[in-house]
Amino acid sequence: MALRGVVAMDGPSGTGKSTVSRRLAKACSAAYLDTGAMYRAATLAALRAGLTEDSPAAEIAAAAAGARMESGTDPATPTITLDGEDISAEIRGPGVTGFVSAVSAVPEVRTELVARQHALIRSAVEDGGGIVVEGRDIGTVVVPEAPLKVYLTASPEVRAARRGRQDAKAGRQSDLHVTLADVERRDRLDSSRRVSPLYAAADALVLDTDRLSADAVLDKLCALVAERGLDG
Ligand code: DC
Repeated sequence: MALRGVVAMDGPSGTGKSTVSRRLAKACSAAYLDTGAMYRAATLAALRAGLTEDSPAAEIAAAAAGARMESGTDPATPTITLDGEDISAEIRGPGVTGFVSAVSAVPEVRTELVARQHALIRSAVEDGGGIVVEGRDIGTVVVPEAPLKVYLTASPEVRAARRGRQDAKAGRQSDLHVTLADVERRDRLDSSRRVSPLYAAADALVLDTDRLSADAVLDKLCALVAERGLDG
């Protein structure tokens, strides 16, 4: 099966969005774009420029605009570099995770990164190709015309437990209570920000993954791709 066009995958962290998005892209011989990694890379650029949550938004925006980041779109090996350095592991650490909601709430940061996302998406879909794009505002702002929009949800407890397992797998120390508090804090910030807040598009398929395995979600999505005639 080969995907034509864009599948928009939105929802908060810990819903299995990345796992399912990558697997769907692989199953459909499509490209894959993790827009969260781009906001994390911009956050790392701001941190490296010595900025914090208390810095003026204009300085945070300037750091993001000047960030030389490259996003790989191969679902088998998703990569992201900053100034030529692979930062895939560093952007998942606590420094970036604690600051990324503030950086992604700056309107100029979003304008800059959405423009870069549009360029990557355009090059993936030209000549009849397809791409699975994951984030928070893909179906509402980045590609509102996407022919398939999915919004994954899960309870904060299940999402924190998933995050904890990911941290353990990557060798990062984490505490379930702290992770749950962070999940809830980021939900609050991401859903209440003025620009492009997190919410499900009116025409998105909403899937609660508390009791759905990644395999089950993937099966549903592959069936939808076929049903909507998106397989080329
Ligand atoms: O998916 P993630 O946890 O790696 O995303 C990191 C942060 O980036 C998240 O707190 C919200 C923000 N983000 C966003 O505002 N818009 C997107 N399209 C993707 C992520």
